[in-house]
Amino acid sequence: MNHTVIKVSNVSRSYITELGLFKKEKKRVDALNDVSFSVKKGEIFGLLGPNGAGKTTMIKILSTMLIPHSGRVSILGLDPAKEFNLLRPKINFILGGERNLYWRLTAYDNLSYFADLYKIPSSCKKKRIKDLLTLVGLEEVAQQKVETFSKGMKQRLQIARGLLNNPEILFLDEPSIGLDPVSARQLRDLLRKLNNQGTTILLTTHYMYEADELCDRIAFINKGKLIEIDTPSNLKKKIDDLSIIQCSVIGASEPQIETIKKLQSIQHIQVNQQDFTYSLRIQTNEPQLVVPFIYDSMKNSIITDLTISNPTLEDVYVNTVGVNVS
Ligand SMILES: Nc1ncnc2c1ncn2[C@@H]1O[C@H](COP(=O)(O)OP(=O)(O)O)[C@@H](O)[C@H]1O
Ligand SMILES: [Mg+2]
Repeated sequence: MNHTVIKVSNVSRSYITELGLFKKEKKRVDALNDVSFSVKKGEIFGLLGPNGAGKTTMIKILSTMLIPHSGRVSILGLDPAKEFNLLRPKINFILGGERNLYWRLTAYDNLSYFADLYKIPSSCKKKRIKDLLTLVGLEEVAQQKVETFSKGMKQRLQIARGLLNNPEILFLDEPSIGLDPVSARQLRDLLRKLNNQGTTILLTTHYMYEADELCDRIAFINKGKLIEIDTPSNLKKKIDDLSIIQCSVIGASEPQIETIKKLQSIQHIQVNQQDFTYSLRIQTNEPQLVVPFIYDSMKNSIITDLTISNPTLEDVYVNTVGVNVS
């Protein structure tokens, strides 16, 4: 049995923002509110939630950048708020986006610069950098300046940077944000490869698909609170009696949509409107009642598309948290 490497107990953290010209008014945001969870060695653990849920705040606390206002954190047996000097060599983090790289330097020189910051002995520096560039698939562009790289390449170089100190735990905040689907898949493959080599990974994301595909366990968070924590398949089992009806209608009126919303057999309905088209996403355990009702109540409109499918992790999130993640 693998042991616990991250233990978060009743952690809260708020931000006070001063408003107004003379900064008299103060606004308090509870970014994290009594959050507890733990992660075992070798897991890929996902923190999932919409913007403002508290994900970045949690990553910052875990990676020694921010101190919680209450509660306790233990990473590899160390307190990140007090024993950061002992902890920092054992962990690393990648905080999304393209910061933290020198665009005018080559990929190799970027890693060389950071290797010096991490005090990697010069005897093994060259080999470490070469191995990491191979791992992230950038060995052929090692001598190219970073400014010529695509977003996906920059993100993979960030990961190489995050691995320079051979961390036991890697923290990633929204690693695939802004990446095209191919680069995002390459990134997931890379994270899985790293994990197979023994690195524990904690990542945040608001992409359900990414969390479902990659994570061993997922924690749903919303407005600073941890709502649910389990494996993706257990989470999906919770609502596997539900069907998902997706439907697009042209020319429907607001009262028609309201009639559908009021239907008893609907557990949850999400309505998006764009010009004359309404898109509905409905959770129900009685599709045999709901589908005819939709056709019936949309008599004078055009239904361009209607599908019935099994729930995804997104539906679990909507069902448990009550809001959409994206
Ligand atoms: N430096 C800050 N000052 C004030 N409020 C902040 C600061 N950082 C985050 N917040 C607020 O805390 C909440 C959680 O933010 P964050 O942890 O960034 O969430 P997420 O990463 O899930 O989007 C949000 O309401 C956000 O506006
Ligand atoms: Mg964030």
